[in-house]
Amino acid sequence: MPKHLNTGQALSVTKHHRQMLNGHRSYALWLTGLSGAGKSTLANALEAELYARGMRTFLLDGDNLRTGLTQDLGFSPADRRENVRRVAHAAKLLVDAGVVVLVALISPFHEERQRARALFAPDEFVEIFVDCPLDVCEARDVKGLYHQARIGKIPEFTGISSPYERPANPDIRVQSDRQSVESDVRQVLLDLSRRGLVPNSDRDAVTRI
Ligand code: ADX
Repeated sequence: MPKHLNTGQALSVTKHHRQMLNGHRSYALWLTGLSGAGKSTLANALEAELYARGMRTFLLDGDNLRTGLTQDLGFSPADRRENVRRVAHAAKLLVDAGVVVLVALISPFHEERQRARALFAPDEFVEIFVDCPLDVCEARDVKGLYHQARIGKIPEFTGISSPYERPANPDIRVQSDRQSVESDVRQVLLDLSRRGLVPNSDRDAVTRI
C-alpha cells in the first residue's frame, strides 16, 4: 500500500491522557544554532531544571543520534534535511508519549525547521535560537572541527563551507556569547512560564533562579 494511503490506527490512550498522568503538558523545545554555539550545554542545563521540577523530559542531541537513529546520514544538504525530518518525527512521538522533548540539532535550513514545526500543534513547538557569532564558535572550537574544516579536512562544514540560515523569527533567542548558561536558562524558563509550559506552582521558583 502506498504510504500516503495509510491513515493509521486510533489509539485508546491519547496524548491528553498521558499528560494528565504526568501532571504537565508535553511539547518540543527545538534548539538550533551553529556547531559550538552551546545548544547541547543549554539543552542539558534546561533539562536538569525541568527534571528538578518533576517533569518528564528527554533530550535528543544530534551528536548522540548520529551514532544510531541517524548513523546512515552525512552532512550533505539532502542528508541534513533527512536528519531533521527523522529527528522531528522522533520528537513528535515523544510529545505524543507525554514527554517534554529537547532537541539540540544544528538544523541549518529554514524550510526544514518549518516542516518540523508543522508536525506539532502551535503551542507544542518552541524554537530556541542559540545565537553565537561564527568567529566565537570558531575560537572556542571545542571539538577541533572548525580547524579541520578550515584546512579542508571536513567538507561541507556549517558556517564555513555549508550554509546556516539564521531563524528570522525564533520563539526565543539566547545570545550565548553574551550571557552565562545560568542566565540563558533563566531567560528560557521565564519565557516558558509565560507560555504556561512550566507548571504555575513553579513560577516563584523560576524567578528565584
Ligand atoms: S545537522 O546539520 O544535520 O542538524 P547535527 O546537529 O545532526 O547537524 O550534527 C552536528 C554535529 O556533527 C556538529 O556539532 C559536529 O560535532 C558534527 N559534524 C561533523 N561534520 C560536520 C559538518 N560537516 N558540519 C557540521 N557539523 C558536523
